[in-house]
Amino acid sequence: MATGLLALGVYVPDKVLSNKDLESFMDTSDEWITTRTGIRERRISAPSEYVSDLALKAARNLVERHGEEALAGVDQVIIATNTPDAFFPNTAALVADQLGLKGAAGYDLLAGCPGWLYALAQASGQVEAGIARKVLVIGSEVLTKIVDWRDRSTAVLFGDGAGAAVVGPVSEGYGFRSFVLGSDGSGGKTLHMAALASSLPDGTRMGPAIYMHGREVFKFAVRVMDTATVEAIEKAGMHPDEISIFVPHQANERIIDAARERLGLDWERVVMNLDRYGNTSTASIPIALAEALDAGKVHEGDNLLFVSFGAGLTWAATVLTWGGA
Ligand code: ACO
Repeated sequence: MATGLLALGVYVPDKVLSNKDLESFMDTSDEWITTRTGIRERRISAPSEYVSDLALKAARNLVERHGEEALAGVDQVIIATNTPDAFFPNTAALVADQLGLKGAAGYDLLAGCPGWLYALAQASGQVEAGIARKVLVIGSEVLTKIVDWRDRSTAVLFGDGAGAAVVGPVSEGYGFRSFVLGSDGSGGKTLHMAALASSLPDGTRMGPAIYMHGREVFKFAVRVMDTATVEAIEKAGMHPDEISIFVPHQANERIIDAARERLGLDWERVVMNLDRYGNTSTASIPIALAEALDAGKVHEGDNLLFVSFGAGLTWAATVLTWGGA
């Protein structure tokens, strides 16, 4: 059975924080942030707004776009996030309840920024195996609540947002063509934040906000964006020429450019919106995909390539043939 994306919805908070705004309380500049990352502004969740709120709004946007029937038959909800409301109850169960998805299975998935792609792989596999009929897969983040605003090298990168998709059966020849998932926990020391333990197995101390060694993560990102995309295209039995649209994790324009160049893709085929949202982690690919769809850039039969990297360290890539719903 082929599985693919049946519907999509997004939500970003109203409040915009520009690089200029950051200059007013941090030793940074619009020029530094723009040239090093490509980011110009990001969205900030309200103090009372959490991951479940953003996820619910993205799911409601999906219903606005596709109608109530888009959620008919959804019997599982997965929320990929790094910033869940609570250890428990899990955020997916809370959102399933508010959407009226009675009895649907619900769990959160913690795999750094690639979490949404990991969740797509789980959803696809479970639908194919007959474990689930349709799965609502949401990436939702309130990263601006866990950054250390005194750490200029990290705080300027992140933004808040959510993207939701329904995964289910599609016609043969469409849908997911390959998945590549991976992790390297030895890189955990370069990107972390404490929960219960105060140190990693290797002794690295962790604090109560995001810590990132930017240069190390940058080198890792360039390497895995290359290897994971090449592997996903090969697994799909394709050549990079057959990729119509490349939707990379929106972390840094320079990282995206390196992957684009390696694949030989012109900018026309690359979706980029990090200038307006920054790095929204698990939400970045669905938000970028929705914008590409709204702009009329994606057509039935197009081969889409998604790739992401992040805390863990983790990576994921997938090739999807659009349409067939
Ligand atoms: N404004 C002004 N100057 C700054 C800022 C800032 N916001 N941040 C750092 N600097 C300074 C540094 O202090 C340093 O100064 P020095 O040379 O006097 O010591 C200089 O700029 C260069 O710093 P680097 O860290 O070497 O800069 P680099 O070119 O590596 O860019 C960046 C930093 C943008 C963080 C880059 O390394 C990067 O994008 N890394 C990848 C991060 C990422 O994508 N993470 C995603 C995963 S997140 C997740 O999974 C939750």
